[in-house]
Amino acid sequence: MKVLYAVSEAKPFIASGGLGDVAGSLPAALRKRLIGCRVVMPLYEGIPEKFKAEMKFITHITVPVAWRRQYCGIFEAKYNGVIYYFLDNQYYFKRQGIYGHYDDAERFAFFSRAVLEMIPYIDFKPDVINCNDWQTALVPVYYSLFYGNRPGFENIKTAFTIHNIQYQGQFGEEIMEDVLGIPKEYSSLLHNDDCINLMKGAIECANAVTTVSPSYAKEILDPYYSHGLDNILRMRSWKIHGILNGIDTVANDPMGDKNLPVNFNAEDVSGKAVCKAQLQKEMGLPEKPDTPVIGMVTRLVSHKGLDLVQCVLEELLCTSDVQVVVLGSGDWQYETFFAELSAKYPDKLAVKIAFVPALASRIYGGSDIFLMPSQSEPCGLSQMFALRYGSIPIVRATGGLRDSVTDSGDNEGNGFVFEEYNAHVMLHTIRRALEGYNDKEGWAILRKRAMECDYSWGRSANEYIKLYKMLIKGEN
Ligand code: GLC
Repeated sequence: MKVLYAVSEAKPFIASGGLGDVAGSLPAALRKRLIGCRVVMPLYEGIPEKFKAEMKFITHITVPVAWRRQYCGIFEAKYNGVIYYFLDNQYYFKRQGIYGHYDDAERFAFFSRAVLEMIPYIDFKPDVINCNDWQTALVPVYYSLFYGNRPGFENIKTAFTIHNIQYQGQFGEEIMEDVLGIPKEYSSLLHNDDCINLMKGAIECANAVTTVSPSYAKEILDPYYSHGLDNILRMRSWKIHGILNGIDTVANDPMGDKNLPVNFNAEDVSGKAVCKAQLQKEMGLPEKPDTPVIGMVTRLVSHKGLDLVQCVLEELLCTSDVQVVVLGSGDWQYETFFAELSAKYPDKLAVKIAFVPALASRIYGGSDIFLMPSQSEPCGLSQMFALRYGSIPIVRATGGLRDSVTDSGDNEGNGFVFEEYNAHVMLHTIRRALEGYNDKEGWAILRKRAMECDYSWGRSANEYIKLYKMLIKGEN
């Protein structure tokens, strides 16, 4: 079986979020299970030189973008046993940042078209193309409109994975013919709420739609979560599958992580106390071994539950012996909230407004509790990293958080879970966790159980393979 994984970012080359983690680890997990899997992504300016230096030029082709024809260089590199293709066009990709340009519709229309155009040139005819998020949503659309019957392109199935339904690729009507090159008679495929919606096009045209947790697959049928796509998803619900993401357990291992001052694992957790003391020092907090440290590593935006945190954090700091460490950047409203509150409570709250992966590791390693109260969370990977690093997650029951964290109230779970999206319900749950922390013996048992949870790609990679097989047999 051959799978081409089309994606707009992948670790270690370049990443802006969880999508990059998945594209950097799922393909290798598929390869380990003897599935031919290669990845294709844009050759961005921001990819570090050391990777560019190792890329091999294969050939160049021209790619139609509506009535234009654009150069596309094809490069190749190997990472973790997987071949990654990089598609080059300096006009589109030699820029600062990877998304957010005025012509993103055209940049990713070019990329999606190029993914298909390159197939005859790479000696790898895929059985399945797995596309991801709106940036590659046009691949299934172009395939079904222009390529399905072309010699050399027969019988390719397309799967489209939604990592976050909030970002759909919505643009004005005017791009349909002139940028996307799609004739008016097909425009209903992409129309949604008076605009062009690339994700909607992929939901219509792909053979399967997957999303990154079973709970999220159900949630997106509901207007509360769907950002306007529930109608079309309900109509196409027969082709939706929820498969929980895994994490790269080699790159994210407290026993091998070079960012930690001392390594540890579930068998010998003694190093965690050193990590905690170092974290307190690094963040300018008093070194108190018995005060629980709550960590947060997150984008500072409301749907990550920041509005709940803003509502009750001061109450928590005033009434409990606790330290809170926050790493992230995002909305000005939350950045200033944290900056002001940490100035008021310098011994209890430490904040770093940035994204520093090494510090993220040290927060997973040095904190006792990890707070992730998201309003919606397609999968979420941080709670899995936290579990592995022995930081007990407190989560709201949504999407992948619901599917990976269970409440320890019954002496079986691996964290603390609340249902209702409400600040005081969250505060009550934090208090439950702090009580749990004071029971030293019980906490050690809970932490060991959490650290032993298996969120590697094993099970999920097998589910992808099952789905691909179904698609190839035409059974979806
Ligand atoms: C997006 C989602 C996140 C998910 C990640 C990888 O970033 O918001 O929940 O874990 O994609 O699928």
